[in-house]
Amino acid sequence: MNTQDNLILKIANINEVIEKWNYEIKIHPENILYCSAANEFINEIKKGTRITYIAKLNNKIISDLTVIIKEKGIINEAKYTNDLVSNKRVYICGVRTIKEYQGKGYLSKLFKFVENDLKKMGYEEICLSVNIKETKNLMMYFKWNYTNYIRTEIREGKEDIFIFNYYYKKIDI
Ligand SMILES: CC(C)(COP(=O)(O)OP(=O)(O)OC[C@H]1O[C@@H](n2cnc3c(N)ncnc32)[C@H](O)[C@@H]1OP(=O)(O)O)[C@@H](O)C(=O)NCCC(=O)NCCS
Repeated sequence: MNTQDNLILKIANINEVIEKWNYEIKIHPENILYCSAANEFINEIKKGTRITYIAKLNNKIISDLTVIIKEKGIINEAKYTNDLVSNKRVYICGVRTIKEYQGKGYLSKLFKFVENDLKKMGYEEICLSVNIKETKNLMMYFKWNYTNYIRTEIREGKEDIFIFNYYYKKIDI
């Protein structure tokens, strides 16, 4: 059986968003931040400030990302946000593929679907942030033309400092 045949790319409905966050909470039992993140994402999606897109394989959510479409929908992601979301620009966050499905091209397919859908909605630019230490992610986004530098931000964790760069691309599908 070609498992690719059972791949569905779509906007998550609220039950699917809850299913995604229940999974995150289950696999990170030691980290209560997942519970607050779950509440934040579910509330913002209900308010219409964010859209979560998913890839489902055999009815299982294997890959997802969230697009913030209203500036007030950004809460914890960035120190200031007025350069990240506008009538023509949206911000992608929360990008992940579950471990056993990584490296098989699912995120790549989901990104193409999302960019196409956002273009249909009239958006012209997509931005995102990437931890500059994550060179594989950095190269992935560069390859997909997220190369227009916006700014650098330093985020302080409990024990470490993280340096994030913001980039945008013009949607050119
Ligand atoms: C980063 C992550 C979301 C990628 O998802 P994925 O489904 O594994 O990605 P894909 O298999 O679709 O690959 C995406 C691109 O990365 C590149 N890539 C994939 N596997 C790679 C590998 N082993 N080495 C180098 N590059 C690789 C490919 O160029 C591919 O692009 P292409 O299909 O246009 O050629 C996933 O690894 C993940 O969830 N990581 C943990 C969370 C995280 O880091 N999120 C991103 C925050 S910015």
